[in-house]
Amino acid sequence: MFDRQTYVQRRDGLGRRLEKGLVLLPGNGESPMNYADNAYAFRQDSTFLYYFGLDQPDLATIIDVEAGTATIFGNELDLDTIVWMGDLPTVAERAERVGVSETQPRSRLAGIVSAARSAGRPVHYLPPYRADSTLMLAELLDVSPGDVGTGASAELIRAVVDQRSYKSADEIAELEQAITISVEMHRAAGRMARPGVREQEIAAEVARIASASGGRLAYPIIGTINGQTLHNHVYPNTLSAGDLYLLDAGAETARGYAGDLTSTFPVSGSFDERQRTVYDILLRAYEASIATAAPGVPNLDVHMAAARAIFDGMKQLGIMKGNTEEALAAGAHALVFPHGIGHMMGLDVHDMENLGEQYVGYDGRPRSRQFGLKSLRLTRKLEPGFVITIEPGIYFIPQLIDDWRARGHNEQFIDFDELDRWRDFGGMRNEEDFLITTDGSRRLGPRKPQTIEELAQLRD
Ligand code: GLY
Ligand code: MN
Ligand code: MN
Repeated sequence: MFDRQTYVQRRDGLGRRLEKGLVLLPGNGESPMNYADNAYAFRQDSTFLYYFGLDQPDLATIIDVEAGTATIFGNELDLDTIVWMGDLPTVAERAERVGVSETQPRSRLAGIVSAARSAGRPVHYLPPYRADSTLMLAELLDVSPGDVGTGASAELIRAVVDQRSYKSADEIAELEQAITISVEMHRAAGRMARPGVREQEIAAEVARIASASGGRLAYPIIGTINGQTLHNHVYPNTLSAGDLYLLDAGAETARGYAGDLTSTFPVSGSFDERQRTVYDILLRAYEASIATAAPGVPNLDVHMAAARAIFDGMKQLGIMKGNTEEALAAGAHALVFPHGIGHMMGLDVHDMENLGEQYVGYDGRPRSRQFGLKSLRLTRKLEPGFVITIEPGIYFIPQLIDDWRARGHNEQFIDFDELDRWRDFGGMRNEEDFLITTDGSRRLGPRKPQTIEELAQLRD
């Protein structure tokens, strides 16, 4: 955790943004795999970590906005638990480390929430994303589980987003550490990605580096010779000469901050001519986005800078045709670039996604429904202190190609006969993480190998 003052200041900042009432912020519980005592690795809720820093299950907190106080609710260990779990710090000792002097047994929580509600005070809470939190809130607030989500406090969501969006120097240092480990993971994978090696062997090494750093993976590894499948979380294949190996993997530090990088490695050691041509287009798109990212610039423009470079590159290859701006407006580029250019990153790899992207990425405005643009998580104007990913990709997805062709979708911008010659190409993506500064953007962490020359050196 950070020093106690950090948490005191964050909670004071939250209190100042709210008018009145209680903030009810439960932490996460254990999440069983197949029976209660055999749980997935515990992951604390990120907003709980942000304001209270404690990485233990079964805690809940209340901030009283008018009184300016914070209380942590949790049960002390009994002898039985100590026998199995060891002699852990008390709730009061943990609370003291994050600047909270008031602790209560968990059983007191319901009475305090109910008294506040009876007195007509608002009880602000965030939309839950786990079933056990939903049930707990339903019981505390005396509503049906199905109604818990709609009762979440938009005022609290806005206040939290307003704080968590701007990364402090401490957080940036932590993100740089996550990214430094992530670069190590990618370097190792790039050295391993050779003919005859199995995807699962590389994934195992990537995961080992994340764990050995004292943290863990920030999200499930995408490590595949089928990079055209965007969220491919299986590793059944053996790499062959001529394949592209796409790795999207990032570490999370012990304090919970994420890194998020994607590399595309030529399994043969160097790209063939077609691969090199597409990779050049990808890097042009990548550089165009980086050059666009600056304070005051909508992230939609960062996305469109990549889309433009990709469409123009496809035009050079004879795959796409027509007026670039008209094609972009129609979404023709999305056939090969169907996702967004990036997202906020912090305590979550998609930072604050659970709070609702309309608040995090759209300033409350509705999201586009156009294929491609609908997957862009962030369009709002960038501001100093935001940390974002930039991750253009170029993919040839046979089923998507066939669907567009059958429907004649955007056919004025696409030469489907030429495109058919590329249908088995696979996919490529390049991703790094950037801090928006007062005059532009800065790559966080060390630069990972990504030019054709750097990728070749990795194998020397
Ligand atoms: N690793 C998931 C993403 O890049 O958004
Ligand atoms: Mn990624
Ligand atoms: Mn990403």
